[in-house]
Amino acid sequence: KAYVPGAKPKADMEQLNKELLELVESLRPKPEECQRQCEALEALRAALVKRWPDCKVHLFGSTANQLSICNNNDIDVCLELPDLPSDPNTKGEIVEELGGLLTEAGMQNVLPLPKARVPVVKFVVGENGTKVDITVNNILAIVNTKLLADYVSIDERLLQLCYVIKHWAKRRQVNDSYRGTLSSYCYVLMCIHLLQQREPPILPCLQAIKPPTHFRTVGQWVCDYYDDLEALKGFGAGNKETLAELVWAFFEYWAWKHDYNNAVISVRTGGFLTKSQKEWTRRVGNERHLVCIEDPFELTHDLGRTVDRQTNGVLHKEFERAACVLRDHDNPLEKLMEPYRA
Ligand code: CTP
Ligand code: MG
Repeated sequence: KAYVPGAKPKADMEQLNKELLELVESLRPKPEECQRQCEALEALRAALVKRWPDCKVHLFGSTANQLSICNNNDIDVCLELPDLPSDPNTKGEIVEELGGLLTEAGMQNVLPLPKARVPVVKFVVGENGTKVDITVNNILAIVNTKLLADYVSIDERLLQLCYVIKHWAKRRQVNDSYRGTLSSYCYVLMCIHLLQQREPPILPCLQAIKPPTHFRTVGQWVCDYYDDLEALKGFGAGNKETLAELVWAFFEYWAWKHDYNNAVISVRTGGFLTKSQKEWTRRVGNERHLVCIEDPFELTHDLGRTVDRQTNGVLHKEFERAACVLRDHDNPLEKLMEPYRA
């Protein structure tokens, strides 16, 4: 299992790439699934406008940035209420009220979490089984969803890599921030960062291109960035790396190359920061900063903060396992994606 500097995968990379691209195609959501999610959103919208006639109901997360993989029943919805004070208590109260309202509207398994970092109600739209997470005035999530969507449209290899990594993370059970591993959002940022680091780069750093063309400030966070996608067409064309090579690069990096003691991954700057620059060197409460991924807009937010000693070990072991499977097997894909069994 040891790291062998410079070692390359044993597999025929052309063949592996072909198989990975087939996997990507098989993971694309089916039209029926999208249809069902649209219907769920409309049922929800109907229930919400009765109570808040001037509200807006936004879709965000993977269903809004093209990174949804099939059989993912979850949709992320944001209820936007103009003129609501932005403190967490107010949002918590709305979430409590939403809990009652959604139950009355016939939604199933309604679970309000008013005390969460981002207050949320989880529920299922009864008729069609779609699981929903609804948050209130979660404007940062709407903006970061657009940022991710813009990156997705620059080079198709980002979507392909995210599909493979998300599928792997679900199969290996390391995709649950409530249980101390990493959210899908976090994995997507890790993929964007990797593609920003390639030589030549496959993705630019949209927040570093000046002047910005998209302007938005949310509370204290300035979320401006460059979003002229026409002008960025073909940005990554000078880099010919295949999906298989990028999947290998991803796992090799997180297994053996990342400096877990000091480094912070930063999509915002297109590079690395140090934990001391971010003042993420000490444990504060439950935030341990063992794996550090800076949110692109909410700069005090370390997306790896949910990782503890135990899950850090689990994650590292999984990255190493994946890298070793890719390095040492002639035909690695099935083994790479083998469901985790305790
Ligand atoms: N989000 C966030 N901060 C986090 C986690 C999530 O702002 N710590 C927001 C992001 O806008 C993200 C959305 O919530 O796009 C949904 O997060 P998540 O469900 O982790 O990502 P998805 O891409 O929706 O993944 P999945 O398909 O697995 O649901
Ligand atoms: Mg989601």
